[in-house]
Amino acid sequence: MARGELMKKLLASYGQEDQFRAVAEEIIGEEERKKNKVLARSLRKTLENLGQVPKAKGLAPLLPFPDEAREFIQRIEPNRTAQDIQMSTENVRLFTGLLREFRKSDQIKQHGLPVRSKLLFCGPPGCGKTLCAEVFAHELGLPLFVVQLDRLMSSYLGETATNIRKIFEFARRQPCVLFLDEFDAIARSRDDGGEHSELRRVVNSLLLFIDQIEPSGFLLAATNLDQALDPAVWRRFDEIVWFDAPDERMIRKFLKNAFKNVKTNFEPEQRAAALVGYSYAELDKICTQAIKLSILGRSKSISLRHFNAAVEDAKRRTKRAERLSN
Ligand SMILES: Nc1ncnc2c1ncn2[C@@H]1O[C@H](COP(=O)(O)OP(=O)(O)OP(=O)(O)O)[C@@H](O)[C@H]1O
Ligand SMILES: [Mg+2]
Repeated sequence: MARGELMKKLLASYGQEDQFRAVAEEIIGEEERKKNKVLARSLRKTLENLGQVPKAKGLAPLLPFPDEAREFIQRIEPNRTAQDIQMSTENVRLFTGLLREFRKSDQIKQHGLPVRSKLLFCGPPGCGKTLCAEVFAHELGLPLFVVQLDRLMSSYLGETATNIRKIFEFARRQPCVLFLDEFDAIARSRDDGGEHSELRRVVNSLLLFIDQIEPSGFLLAATNLDQALDPAVWRRFDEIVWFDAPDERMIRKFLKNAFKNVKTNFEPEQRAAALVGYSYAELDKICTQAIKLSILGRSKSISLRHFNAAVEDAKRRTKRAERLSN
């Protein structure tokens, strides 16, 4: 069968394991016939490994999505895995514990004990809050839904409360990771709204929903604010997770990882000290830029010249950004 037809069949088998495996076998068979042995072997290995992980709950048919919420909520396919994120030892321990608790939640609930499922991510921009939501959903095997709170809060207020209720109702029934990004919008709104304002009423009802919900997956929220966060907000979460800017040791690890699949004619890890103060997002840009410069220069390996030029670009960016924020 033509490859396109097989792809269509594969997509149509979403959520039906037997059919999915049958189509996958057809694809592997076709590659074997075409003598693409390496690809066929690698596909077969991937298919065999699928059976070894617990069946991802995300593969279950999704509940109908509330139409009215489409503007504020987006389904993200979690692609990045634990290998793509650098985390402090403290956070690795915390997430390992949370995953374990989630996988054994029936056992915990049988004893009448609560399972931790509401987490607040805090920390400066570009240090992994959004990335971690994606990685965590991937590890849990749950679909990820991102709620754009700033957009939701600025929608017509009378409808905001109804939309919030619908989103929470959805997350109560659908096993998923519901991620309230830009949670600062809430903190700001609490300050901006007068005591009796409509906005304050909406914010308070959102906090009440967070209080009451027992998600069938996880409720995550992320904010750039930390100390400024009102205790009335953070006490509603089971855990507060801090995502700090990388120190020299973490930068060394990041650089090692970023250049692991390419050739360099300098020691990237030795450049770490000069990069203290940059976020992971900036480090990522620097490494990508250095690789691009070596490609454009048709070099066989990445040189210190490429790397330094990428760092200079980052310096220029941060200088401009600082000027804009002052
Ligand atoms: N801890 C990390 N490990 C590896 N890469 C990271 C890490 N943190 C950030 N990055 C890189 O930077 C990008 C942006 O990070 P992310 O969106 O997670 O930041 P954030 O903390 O959510 O920032 P903001 O507060 O601006 O929303 C990521 O897609 C990834 O490429
Ligand atoms: Mg983010």
